[in-house]
Amino acid sequence: MCSVVGYLGSKDASLFLLEGLSRLEYRGYDSAGIACMSDNELKIVKERGYLSALEHCVYRQGCMGNVGIGHTRWATHGKATQNNAHPHTDCNNKVAVVHNGIIENSSQLIGQLKNDDHTFSSQTDTEVIAHLIATLQNKHNDLNDLVVDLVAQLDGAYAFLALLKDYSETMIAVRNQSPLCIGIGDDEIFVASDVLAFAHYTKNVIFLPDQTFALLVKNTVKVFSFDGQAIMIEPQEVMVDHQIAQKDSYQHFMLKELYEQPQAIINTIKSLPAQFEEQNKKQISYDLTQIEQIHFIACGTSRHTCLIVQHFFSFIANIKTTVHLSSEFVHEQLFDTPNTWYIFVSQSGETADTLHALRHVKKETTACTMAIVNVAFSTLAREVDLVLCTKAGPEVAVASTKTFTASIALLYWLANKCAHKKELINNNEFDNVANQLTHASNVLQQSLDNYRDTITFSLASKLIDAPYYIFLGRQQGHTLAKEAALKAQELAYMPALAVAAGELKHGPLALIEDGLPVIIFSSQNAEVYKKIISNVQEVKARGAYVLAIIFTGQDELATLADKSFVIASVTPLLEPIAMVSVMQYLVYCIAQQRGCAIDKPRNLAKSVTVE
Ligand code: F6R
Repeated sequence: MCSVVGYLGSKDASLFLLEGLSRLEYRGYDSAGIACMSDNELKIVKERGYLSALEHCVYRQGCMGNVGIGHTRWATHGKATQNNAHPHTDCNNKVAVVHNGIIENSSQLIGQLKNDDHTFSSQTDTEVIAHLIATLQNKHNDLNDLVVDLVAQLDGAYAFLALLKDYSETMIAVRNQSPLCIGIGDDEIFVASDVLAFAHYTKNVIFLPDQTFALLVKNTVKVFSFDGQAIMIEPQEVMVDHQIAQKDSYQHFMLKELYEQPQAIINTIKSLPAQFEEQNKKQISYDLTQIEQIHFIACGTSRHTCLIVQHFFSFIANIKTTVHLSSEFVHEQLFDTPNTWYIFVSQSGETADTLHALRHVKKETTACTMAIVNVAFSTLAREVDLVLCTKAGPEVAVASTKTFTASIALLYWLANKCAHKKELINNNEFDNVANQLTHASNVLQQSLDNYRDTITFSLASKLIDAPYYIFLGRQQGHTLAKEAALKAQELAYMPALAVAAGELKHGPLALIEDGLPVIIFSSQNAEVYKKIISNVQEVKARGAYVLAIIFTGQDELATLADKSFVIASVTPLLEPIAMVSVMQYLVYCIAQQRGCAIDKPRNLAKSVTVE
């Protein structure tokens, strides 16, 4: 998604802007640009494609100045062209704007401005901000008044930075929902969508609160609410691991992250007792024994985590659970029922739909909110009552792998913690949780090691030309089927269906034809296993090519399937951790052999900061 960066100081701003943008590359983008104030003139350089293309243009064309703003764009309004790349300006090049988010009433505003003889040169919603600022300059002599008037006219979620030729030493930074933070350095100020852009220069950070703006002049940050009232905010010290993740000897970040899963699980479970105690010190009163209902809310793979862990809470801790898609949940009617918790799961902690869902809960209920995130200083982590972090380390590949399994492990521990507090399990049982998770993560590793060669050298090539895939499962296996189908779509650009095996005869069976790959996730549960055997017989009878991920001793299924992957037994509820790596690696290899951009699949971004 789009990222913004800004710099005010005594150095050449373009150096930080290019570096800061490269540190935010993980968010995904298709074009980039910077603007610097140079001798009271706005100099703008922008280019389609990778940052390296922009860098060449900056070196060729020059873009120096002590105040500057930069942007990487992920197209929403208008194609990924140089013209649509940010910064955008008004008709007279007196205002430059970079923006992350969506101006929902842009068409209406553009219409009004065109009537006043403004000419627009891009198809973006952002350009309207620059034209509006230019118009408002005729009305207001005071920048504070100008911004108050400006934000009153903008609808949507946005974070933007603006430079004005008439205020050549000032930068305007505005935040409505989309994240924006300000780093206070020695004699210099940094601004960015994510602290990672400047964390190696300063640890003193102001996270701009929602619906506020800042006027930045050399060494001074003044923050105001949207109605123009000054707000005092002390910078907080932020300890962020700012090392840039390296691929090491792996061909892709995804492959590296897939192999990092056991360590991510172990680091997470080791950290949990201390993290939990830390949350206990918070002023909010909460009692795990009183929870009667949990609503889990997330998007994509994080939602699959929720679908898996909901069973932990109901079976182990006897708590009623419901799972919601963030984007749908925001339209739901909420009831402020007592002893209800809302748990939001998000790798990035910046997913716009999930943040919107959190704000919906906070507005409509008094319930306790909790976040499970991998990025400790994310917006979600800051806005909830309680937060527990996975310790998976930075996840760079767009497709989530290690944060998926680490968050399952974290929530398995938490469900057991609830059960322990409720005296549903004894001390020994609770102490055994870490062993169960460690064993499951070892099985994940072994399965990967056992099947890596077969998948790489013989299996993936058999599957790359299939018209589509069907993934089948029951219970946890059905959720894994959903995760597999999502991975096949995003990584290999393959149409894939996830079917609850029991639903086959109600429709999807009609799709089965000779040679169609059907991948089934088995279960250690005897009842479920029996039914899975019947399902496999049904698809085999119609010519499907069956791959089965099964557990030790499931010989009948092994005989039926064309190819099976045998996984060592684990605690039944932890089957998803044990089975997932074979599926992840299989899809990784298919994507690789189909020549797909594995770490950065087309059209996708790591951090989805627009709804
Ligand atoms: C798929 C994937 C996405 C994310 C989703 C939510 O591999 O990674 O589906 O899970 O965009 O992102 P977070 O977890 O950051 O809220």
